[in-house]
Formats: sequence, structure tokens, C-alpha cells
Amino acid sequence: MEYKLIGPEHYEQVIDHLRRNFFADEPLNKAAGLCQKGFGNSELEHHSLETLHDKLSLMAVDRSEGAEQEECKIAGVILNGILRPGDTAQALQKLQASSDLNFKKIFELLYSHNLKVDLFGRFKVDRIFDVRILSVDASYRGQGIAKELVRHAESLARKRGFRLLKADATGIFSQKILRSHGFELFAEQLYAKYTDAGGQVVLPVEAPHIKLQLLTKKVGHDDGDE
Ligand code: ACO
Repeated sequence: MEYKLIGPEHYEQVIDHLRRNFFADEPLNKAAGLCQKGFGNSELEHHSLETLHDKLSLMAVDRSEGAEQEECKIAGVILNGILRPGDTAQALQKLQASSDLNFKKIFELLYSHNLKVDLFGRFKVDRIFDVRILSVDASYRGQGIAKELVRHAESLARKRGFRLLKADATGIFSQKILRSHGFELFAEQLYAKYTDAGGQVVLPVEAPHIKLQLLTKKVGHDDGDE
């Protein structure tokens, strides 16, 4: 397996990977019924592409498949973006114009949960390495690829001079993976307690996933090249 930076030439293949894996499988997307496996979602694709433009995203490529071809098989991706003060409040405001109610439900939870805390003030940083999407192809799961993607992402963050990483881990497995890399719990929200004005649970997330965790990791500097 090769781990490498995602360049613009891979964007289409990455979006295709997400359509076949992340968009339908991620716990909140699944609970909201965001889209069916293999299908796209314009808002989530836009969000993914915006993150890719920060040039901090990595992919795991299976060299044994399609080695002779230009396009190798993507086994997994970790999409990371730069988060600056004010970005989340602005994103929440922009979200109000979205006509995709399911997308809105998911991102209202994520943004409002993040707005309850001030990571910039607490850690005295002016930018954060934001781990936004961790996705492994269903046929490659359980082989430690997600763990390796997180390890490479952390190494990249150090090399680019970031002092803080954060992730909104939506399921029990991503939480376990990030915690095993030294990410610490900063805030959490039980899905069963996230209700609307009428007391209805907004996102009926399936077990074993029961809560959203905002996880952080402080890192030091590293001068090498990724
Ligand atoms: N059942 C039981 N244990 C699991 C499972 C599972 N389905 N998935 C992962 N684990 C455990 C592994 O046993 C392993 O634990 P260990 O180190 O104690 O042996 C650990 O989690 C790491 O497993 P990996 O093999 O590195 O994980 P994998 O490559 O299978 O990818 C992922 C895990 C990314 C969660 C994958 O299942 C996936 O793509 N799911 C759909 C998308 C998703 O939910 N992404 C995370 C959302 S949060 C975010 O994106 C920031």
C-alpha cells in the first residue's frame, strides 16, 4: 500500500471513492439518509472538494491493482483542511441557504457542536489541521489502513507546522482509531440527546455509534518532507 498526497489529478477518483463508500456508510450520513450507495451528493462533494483544495489530504493506493494503468485503486482517503477562527460560524451561516435538508441536519450538528468550544483560544493557535473525512473502501476495511492514514496525516501536519489537529469523529471506530493515535476527548454529544423543539431525535444514528466526539491532538514541529 502506498500513502501519498492527493493532487488535482486525483480529485475525480477521490469523489468516486467517496460516493461508493463514505457518502452512504458514515454514521450521520446513514442516519440522515443522505444518499444511496454509489450516488453523489452535491453539497458533500462541494465540501470535499473545498477540503481537497487545502492540499493536505492523503490517499492509500493499492499498487497491486492496476499497476500498469494510469488510475490505481484507491483503498482509502483522509481529507484534511485548514480551520481558521471564524470559519465555522461563517460555514453555519452559509448552511442556512442550503436546500438539502439532510445535509443541513448533519452539518448543523457538527458546526453547532464546534461553536460551543473555542479551540483557538484554548490552545492558543491561529490555524488547526482539521481531519474532516476518513474513509476506507469497504473491501479493504479491517486491515489497519485507516490507522495508517491517520499516522501519515499527523506526520504531514507536523511537517507543515501545525500545532493542533482536530476531528469530529462520528462513529465508534473512527473514535477508537483516533484515540489510539493520542487524540483526546474535548467535547461530545450523545445522538439520543440531540433533539428538535418537539423532543424528537434529529439524527437516529444506528448502534454501535452513540455519540459525536470532538477530538484534539497537540503536536510538535517536524522539518522533513511528506
Ligand atoms: N468492526 C469492529 N472493529 C472495527 C471496525 C468494525 N467495523 N472498523 C474498524 N475497527 C477497529 C479495528 O478492529 C481496529 O482496532 P484494533 O487496532 O484494536 O485492531 C481499529 O478499528 C482500526 O481499524 P482499521 O483497519 O485501521 O480501520 P479501517 O481501515 O477498516 O477503516 C473506517 C475504518 C474509516 C471507520 C471505515 O470503516 C470506514 O470508511 N467507514 C465509513 C466511513 C466512516 O464512518 N468514517 C469515519 C467518520 S468520522 C470522520 O470522517 C472524521
